[in-house]
Amino acid sequence: MAQLGVNIDHVATIRQARQTVEPDPVWAAAEAELGGADCITVHLRVDRRHISDRDVRLLRETVRGKLNMEMSLDEEIVAIALQIGPDQATLVPENRREITTEGGLDVRAAAKRTGKVARKLADAGVTVSAFVDPAAAQIRAARDAGCQAVELHTGRYANACLAATRRHNPGEQAASALAELREALAAGVDAGLTVHAGHGLTYQNVAPVAAMDGFGEFNIGHGIIARAVFVGLRDAVGEMKQLISSKAQAGTIRGG
Ligand code: PXP
Repeated sequence: MAQLGVNIDHVATIRQARQTVEPDPVWAAAEAELGGADCITVHLRVDRRHISDRDVRLLRETVRGKLNMEMSLDEEIVAIALQIGPDQATLVPENRREITTEGGLDVRAAAKRTGKVARKLADAGVTVSAFVDPAAAQIRAARDAGCQAVELHTGRYANACLAATRRHNPGEQAASALAELREALAAGVDAGLTVHAGHGLTYQNVAPVAAMDGFGEFNIGHGIIARAVFVGLRDAVGEMKQLISSKAQAGTIRGG
């Protein structure tokens, strides 16, 4: 069964809104793990808009399961990752103006730099994953750059689901995005990579993706933290874990 990585950046976003000390993402990680998270994911951005160096340092000491650090190819961030030594690094593109990571990393265009960073991280014992669009060429480029894993960007699928809910379209786009993910999953497995998925996954849309055999990990942030506002983080994580494990379930929790 695929593991659940919980992205806790949003907890830090709330803290930073007041530039204070709470809520603490380190506490959030412990709550998420108590709820069943297999992995804690944080994105240390160059602009430090949410997660800070202090957070990553403390999380390295306190997280009991896997620590996954999302990171750009920026030199300073790579140096910090090498110092901290997360279990896994997920290479992502970063753009100052974006609200969240917008597209996958263009590994084909940045093959040399990606290869260099991947080698350094792998030499330090870090499993290297690249966040890519669900396209075979990007997946092969990630393998050629020395990545052991890819995380498929599920944003197109998630957006199509949202549009279908709002009746902008009857769901054909979601079906075609799912087919694209299925093909990309097969391409990743064929390339000998571990295949993860994430971005925009929610309690409403995760089931068809979780029902695909072969994903190693789902990284989910916004949906879980949004639900945690009402039910608490431990329960929110437990509910998502349950949905993923029951796979074929319809995917809708009342009130979600
Ligand atoms: N995976 C990656 C690589 C991401 O950049 C993000 C967003 O930070 C996520 C997963 C989680 O996305 P969401 O918050 O939409 O669940």
